[in-house]
Amino acid sequence: MTTNIAVLVSGRGSNLQSIIDSIESGSIRDVKVSVVISDVKNAFALERARRHGIDAIFIDPRSFVDKKAYEQDVLKTLGQYDIGLILLAGYMRIVGREVIEAYRNKIINIHPALLPSFKGLHAQKQAFDYGVRVSGCTVHFVDEGMDTGPIIIQKCVPVLEGDTPDTLAARILEKEHQIFPEAVKLFVEGKLKVEGRVVVRT
Ligand code: GRF
Repeated sequence: MTTNIAVLVSGRGSNLQSIIDSIESGSIRDVKVSVVISDVKNAFALERARRHGIDAIFIDPRSFVDKKAYEQDVLKTLGQYDIGLILLAGYMRIVGREVIEAYRNKIINIHPALLPSFKGLHAQKQAFDYGVRVSGCTVHFVDEGMDTGPIIIQKCVPVLEGDTPDTLAARILEKEHQIFPEAVKLFVEGKLKVEGRVVVRT
């Protein structure tokens, strides 16, 4: 059976691309990126989706009275694709309760720091400014908090002499492109079980 994936994006979409590439090369099987939804009109991620024949939809949050109404529309769109997994790939909004409840333990996010350190925006710069010697990235299930859900995979990178926030971010991004598809593969193969806040591999 094929798992339909929806990817929510806001920007350049390199993590989306890593998923598309892993599917096209056959490293992840029995999945399809069925729709890419962006809250930003000109997000390059939408263009990437179109280039691969994937439905690419812009939903403008500003055209709704509030976040709830916006997310109702997102839910309606997701409902048209029989979605089994939602990926947040550089989606710059906090997902609301209704979406989380509708897709409990079926929403996965990629974050460019070793959670629970450096949650939120500009995580690579936060880590750099803090002076850490090691940083990295985290793939996790999404719960009601911000970057707080059960952790699936983490990968470390060193912070090197002469680094800037940008060089560190680039080193982290390479690892993101490895662990995001890895996590998707584990999920679709049914190998992830959430027990409390811990993810157990089965
Ligand atoms: C990545 O660093 C991801 O970890 C964070 O937002 C960035 C998105 O990059 N959540 P891209 O749009 O996937 O290239």
